[in-house]
Amino acid sequence: MINSELSHLRGSPFGALRSLLDPLPPAPGLEPVLLTIGEPQHKPPQLMIDALRANEHLYGKYPPIEGTADLRAAIAGWLRRRYALPEDMVDPDRNIAPVNGTKEALYMIASVITERAATGATKPAILLPTPYYHVYHAAAIMAGAEPVFLPAGAETHFFPDLDALDPALLNRTSAFYLCNPSNPQGTVASAEYLRKALSLARKHNFMLIVDECYSEIYDTTPPTGILEICREEGGTLDHVMAFHSLSKRSSAAGLRSGFCVGEASLIKTFLHLRSFAGAASPLPVCAAAAALWNDDTHVAENRALYHQKFDMAEEIFGSRFGFYRPEGGFFLWLNVGDGVEAAKRLWTKAAIRVLPGRYLSVAGADGINPGDPYIRVALVATPESSKEALTRLADSL
Ligand SMILES: Cc1ncc(COP(=O)(O)O)c(C=O)c1O
Repeated sequence: MINSELSHLRGSPFGALRSLLDPLPPAPGLEPVLLTIGEPQHKPPQLMIDALRANEHLYGKYPPIEGTADLRAAIAGWLRRRYALPEDMVDPDRNIAPVNGTKEALYMIASVITERAATGATKPAILLPTPYYHVYHAAAIMAGAEPVFLPAGAETHFFPDLDALDPALLNRTSAFYLCNPSNPQGTVASAEYLRKALSLARKHNFMLIVDECYSEIYDTTPPTGILEICREEGGTLDHVMAFHSLSKRSSAAGLRSGFCVGEASLIKTFLHLRSFAGAASPLPVCAAAAALWNDDTHVAENRALYHQKFDMAEEIFGSRFGFYRPEGGFFLWLNVGDGVEAAKRLWTKAAIRVLPGRYLSVAGADGINPGDPYIRVALVATPESSKEALTRLADSL
């Protein structure tokens, strides 16, 4: 009675972490600090709260799945400002689908673009990096595709090596999930890299899904967006779908609001499916999201807090544990030799929870899991508690 594909789902990294650490007592006498989940603890902007309150009379209405015209216009305005796009490149009503957080939309898009193989035929492939955001894998499985993990190690700036991809694999690929800035490693793909990925997508007819939810948290240079590459390559959005979220940009994970942008016919089909299976965002949420996309000041203030924390981490770690300042995003990806052992030690000796890299990656054909030596440290706490936590972490390691 149950879809057998479900047996291929991998456990969530957070479930694995609970099994590892819940049986162990945290270090006594210390306030536990959780640096595991990417949930920013910075205060959400007041303008979000104000917009929610000003629109609270709308909670009684069913919201439309395509969001409001105001929200789509705010998103299109932000995209034009952020990526210097010409006015006519992104049509708010045809190229944008607001979504209730990008997690579930990243999951659903795979089913929209993947044709199921006949029984016994070779499955279409969905490419994803390893380490990876666990939703990509579930999306591939439940779309009836074969998830193909592409190693994304330090030697390729933590992105999959595009030159190593077999054309026969690319020819049966329906989608390629690319996370830029990368989670967990915090690197940013170059314009050349993105251009190559786009040209492969167009040549081999697959969808390049670019998860840009960390794009507004960066150290010095705003990460190049895939839409900038589309602009340079003639301005069309074919074979591309980019995802953006307010969860990290505006420290508003609980608002559940993001969007995807792509080619008009795909957005239309996606919204059609969502009209049955997607949850529309309540109208007050749409109003709050519009206010947030219209404002860049709170984003710069947010980024300044991350800068403070990167400075602290740099001072505390120096070059130990392979520390480098993340180019984008808010994770430290530290090479500690054995990530699982380090996570146990940090919990029992310093009351700090971090995620072992092993839980974010899979072993390659050689049996080696590239995440094994690493821990992921989410710099999501306030600067004050981060300093104490990072000091404790470094001392304990
Ligand atoms: C890489 C990546 N993509 C997407 C998401 C989903 O974000 P949201 O559903 O809050 O928009 C996350 C959340 O942690 C993430 O790390």
